[in-house]
Amino acid sequence: MINFTYWNPTKLIFGKGQLEALKDEVPKYGKKVLLVYGGGSIKRSGLYDDVMSLLKELGAEVFELSGVEPNPRISTVRKGVELCKKEGIEFLLAVGGGSVIDCTKAIAAGAKYDGDAWDIVTKKAFAKEALPFGTVLTLAATGSEMNAGSVITNWETKEKYGWGSPVTFPKFSILDPENTYTVPRDQTVYGIVDMMSHVIEHYFHLEENTLLQDRMCEGQLLTVMESAPRLLENLESYEERATILYNGTMALNGMFSMGFRGDWATHNIEHAVSAVYDIPHGGGLAILFPNWMKHNLNVKPERFKKLAVRVFGVDPTGKSDEEAGLEGIEKLREFWNSIGAPSRLADYDIDDSQIEVMADKAMVNGEFGNFKKLNRDDVLAIYRASL
Ligand code: NZQ
Ligand code: ZN
Repeated sequence: MINFTYWNPTKLIFGKGQLEALKDEVPKYGKKVLLVYGGGSIKRSGLYDDVMSLLKELGAEVFELSGVEPNPRISTVRKGVELCKKEGIEFLLAVGGGSVIDCTKAIAAGAKYDGDAWDIVTKKAFAKEALPFGTVLTLAATGSEMNAGSVITNWETKEKYGWGSPVTFPKFSILDPENTYTVPRDQTVYGIVDMMSHVIEHYFHLEENTLLQDRMCEGQLLTVMESAPRLLENLESYEERATILYNGTMALNGMFSMGFRGDWATHNIEHAVSAVYDIPHGGGLAILFPNWMKHNLNVKPERFKKLAVRVFGVDPTGKSDEEAGLEGIEKLREFWNSIGAPSRLADYDIDDSQIEVMADKAMVNGEFGNFKKLNRDDVLAIYRASL
């Protein structure tokens, strides 16, 4: 284990009926509120009306920014920043999935910055200040509700980057499993793949003696694989929605990843694909992750074997670490296939015509990955294996 400091200031408010907590939380931060949401799912579900009536009860002056795209765009962030500056917004409330929350983080930081918010995303500038914001999460996937990260796309230049700052943790996040009942089956699957991928990114590191962290990660994967098929049988099961929602938050709030540096190459490789093709993040990960694993199996085969035996029930008798590890990777692919996740770039009509472009985008900051540094040839090999 390496030295670490754990700090997470987000107040997590979980369970049925917890939306009422807005009444206690919002007044702490101000009266002028910018409500940020996506393409209309919260209007269809009725959540928009519930949030609005609570904010009205508080006497808040509510401004709105709607239409945040999945894979949120810098153009929308800029609109939000302008609104905050013009109207003197004091607090932002994100109601939606990871995209709405990530967009809100960039607006919150951009509102306190004199230049263009894209400078913050591209790390030309560092967010030292941000407006306070809270979230009402509607989709279990990214963990953005309890971390400081944000991923923003520039659709004009086809770039997509992650960034973060200690000032971009939500002040609070309200997670009511009932608010995720309306998430369609495909988005539910992408979320499941994403939260499992966060844990697999953690799992592949080069430190020794991370026994508790290993068990926590393995526990998360086992739990998601136990609950996901039941959830997909009944998308309105409170218990399964609750299990998956809690798993998504825990997978990327820092709790499972103290004392080592996870790999994170596959996320970078995927962001380059969704920058060019605008595909869902979880769908891209389902395609790419098993191929990243196969590509790096020989780096530390005993790690792959551990995952295979403990999580995927592989019997290692008479097998080399690599053989057992490979069986585990195949079982991961089988599980994702069984819940209906995509397995090839061709599933999104992506051929090899842009893979050089995507590789350039993935390589923009040079070699990457903490478990294994990948160069351009490695990235191309992973894309080719994924076609
Ligand atoms: O826009 P609306 O109408 O709300 O519809 C959304 C959207 O079309 C819909 N949806 C959300 N909640 C719903 C619902 N539909 C019905 N009922 C509900 N309750 O689902 C669609 C996808 O939403 P989105 O927010 O894009 O999904 P997700 O939460 O998976 O977020 C994906 C984004 O997060 C980034 C990804 O790269 C991608 O841009 N990530 C952010 C991370 C972070 N901040 O820590 C880490 C992740 O690894 C990831 O990279
Ligand atoms: Zn992710």
